[in-house]
Amino acid sequence: MTSLPDLTQEQLRSRVAEQLVRARRRSELLTDAVDDDDLVRQHSRLMSPLVWDLAHVGNQEELWLVRDVGHREPVRQDIDKLYDAFQHARADRPALPLLNPAEARGYVREVRDKVLDVLDHTPLEGRQLVESAFAFGMIAQHEQQHDETMLATHQLRSGGPVLHAPDPPAGRRLAAAEALVPGGAFTMGTSTEPWALDNERPAHTAHTDPFFIDTAPVTNGDFLAFIDAGGYDDQRWWSAAGWAHRQQADLGAPRFFERDGSGWVRTRFGVREPVPADEPVVHVCFYEAEAYAAWAGKRLPTEVEWEKAARFDPATGRSRRYPWGDEDPGPEHANLDQRHLHPAPVGAYPAGASPLGVQQLIGDVWEWTSSDFGGYPGFTAFPYDEYSLAFFGPGYKVLRGGSFGTDAVACRGTFRNWDSPIRGQIFAGFRCARTPRADELR
Ligand code: AVJ
Ligand code: FE
Repeated sequence: MTSLPDLTQEQLRSRVAEQLVRARRRSELLTDAVDDDDLVRQHSRLMSPLVWDLAHVGNQEELWLVRDVGHREPVRQDIDKLYDAFQHARADRPALPLLNPAEARGYVREVRDKVLDVLDHTPLEGRQLVESAFAFGMIAQHEQQHDETMLATHQLRSGGPVLHAPDPPAGRRLAAAEALVPGGAFTMGTSTEPWALDNERPAHTAHTDPFFIDTAPVTNGDFLAFIDAGGYDDQRWWSAAGWAHRQQADLGAPRFFERDGSGWVRTRFGVREPVPADEPVVHVCFYEAEAYAAWAGKRLPTEVEWEKAARFDPATGRSRRYPWGDEDPGPEHANLDQRHLHPAPVGAYPAGASPLGVQQLIGDVWEWTSSDFGGYPGFTAFPYDEYSLAFFGPGYKVLRGGSFGTDAVACRGTFRNWDSPIRGQIFAGFRCARTPRADELR
């Protein structure tokens, strides 16, 4: 969304409409792929039924765009509580008197028709909520975020494949395994990206010491070496909380992996296949990432380090929107948009490299950082406390960069995701960092 402020109101409206349509096409793809029985079923206690996500997307759109921005009559005020994520835990959602699939589809269509009318009649300036069409951008991102959640629900569903996509580009050898990021100040976060969410703001100066960061995410091949070395059974590599979770959940491999004779297979959206050694590992929780890094003699990057590696251009001292520059992501830059149904092998996106040669920071897998989720200096919750503020604290770790299931509208160099350190069903992997030895800095 480069320089939205330079667009005319008409150009901005058509950008907004495009993003809303894209999001809806994806929601339809994910919900039309299965029958009604599947839409209302709970595939895992960790996830909502798909039909809940669909109507929740419509309800948020109604709350913000029909009622708040548009000042229109409510469509279905009676269902607000059913679709308020803070009212009912995911595990309890199937038992609620939810809209059935036909009702949910009718509801989201009715809301959308009103929203397109609101879009035509609302000046996209003069009020913070609509400045540069922020509320519309927030809602397009919200739908895409739930689409990624629905994709994770698909991964937990049993049965044959119902989603299909071509394979990502082939991998290539990287020139170096690690990049040295210089110490010093850089600009973190943003005050100018029009659709950046509250937790990405404001832009501020952050500092790091010099650090090494891996030029690629940790691969399945790397991670299997940790398993083969007995890493899951060696308490030395685990934090106290990590070991307690490893014991309690009986962890022994990434989710969806199974031993097959002397090798490993994985089940991915209904396809059982050998684990590809050169793809970034996915479906590991924070504690597994942390243990691997310790075994490898490294550590996870802090969130500040991750963003500096992804955005800082040492030649100009500027922070970029993305590792490759300020252009919006294209298919040559990153594995995003559910264009492919798995991470791409290491080296598949040389055009997406950062100035220091760090690759695949955007797309493929969300990357765990060692940092707790919190507000930047000067943070103000906007437009509601339950987007970010309610999750600040030690219970959530920050993830960066987006996955193959993240849409570009909800992915930026500044974008911040978070989850509980025990979550393995999301499309999360990691890369390692380390503090240089004195002799490496001379
Ligand atoms: C930012 C992905 C953690 O899915 O819980 C969706 C996004 N917030 N609806 C989530 C979100 C409200 C959120 N994450
Ligand atoms: Fe939501």
